Amino acid sequence: MNSVQIEDKNFELFLENDQINKRTRLIGIQLNVDYEDRCPIIIGVLNGSFVFMADLLKEIEISCEIAFIRVSSYKDTESTGIIKEAFGLPDNLHNRDIILVEDIVDTGLTLKYILEKVRLQAPASVKVCSLLLKPDALLAPVPELEYIGFEIPNEFVVGYGLDYNGLGRNLKDIYSAVN
Ligand code: IMP
Repeated sequence: MNSVQIEDKNFELFLENDQINKRTRLIGIQLNVDYEDRCPIIIGVLNGSFVFMADLLKEIEISCEIAFIRVSSYKDTESTGIIKEAFGLPDNLHNRDIILVEDIVDTGLTLKYILEKVRLQAPASVKVCSLLLKPDALLAPVPELEYIGFEIPNEFVVGYGLDYNGLGRNLKDIYSAVN
C-alpha cells in the first residue's frame, strides 16, 4: 500500500517493514554486545512500542527481564505536554541496568517524565532505545537516548504500533501525514 487514509488525514508510505527489520536487527546486535553478562530489565513504553518491542526482543540473545509501562500524553496529532497517566513501572530497578524502549521521541517530555520516575529507584544504568526520533521537535537533549532506529522529519507518522486517534497501529509499514 502506498497510501492510507485514516479519518480526515492522508498518509503516504514512509518506512517499509523490511527497512525497519534490518535496522532493528542491527540495534539488537549492538544491545547483545553492550549488555553481555548484565541481564538488563527492558521496559517497553506502551501503547506505541509494542510492535517494535516484540521485533527487537527476537533479536536479543542475552539474558534479560521484560516489563511494560504505560504513559499517555497525546490527543490528536499534537502533544499536550501534560502527562495524564503513568503506571506499571516495576519497583525492583535498584542497581539494575535499565533499557527503556520507545516507539518515537517527539518533544521528549514523555521520556523526561519516565526517566525521572526510573531514577528515583537508583538503577545501575539507564539507556533509551527509540525506533524513531524527531530531532527538530526535541525540546532538550536526552543523554540517555543511545539507540535510535531512524531520525525523521517533524511530520506525524502512523503504523507499526504508532496511531492517529487510536487507529493505524496495526499497519505493517510506517506512513507519514500528507499536508
Ligand atoms: P513526546 O512526549 O512529545 O516525546 O511524545 C512521545 C509520545 O507521543 C510517543 O510515545 C507517541 O505515543 C506520541 N507521538 C509523538 N509523535 C507521534 C507521531 O508522529 N505519531 C504517533 N504518535 C506520536
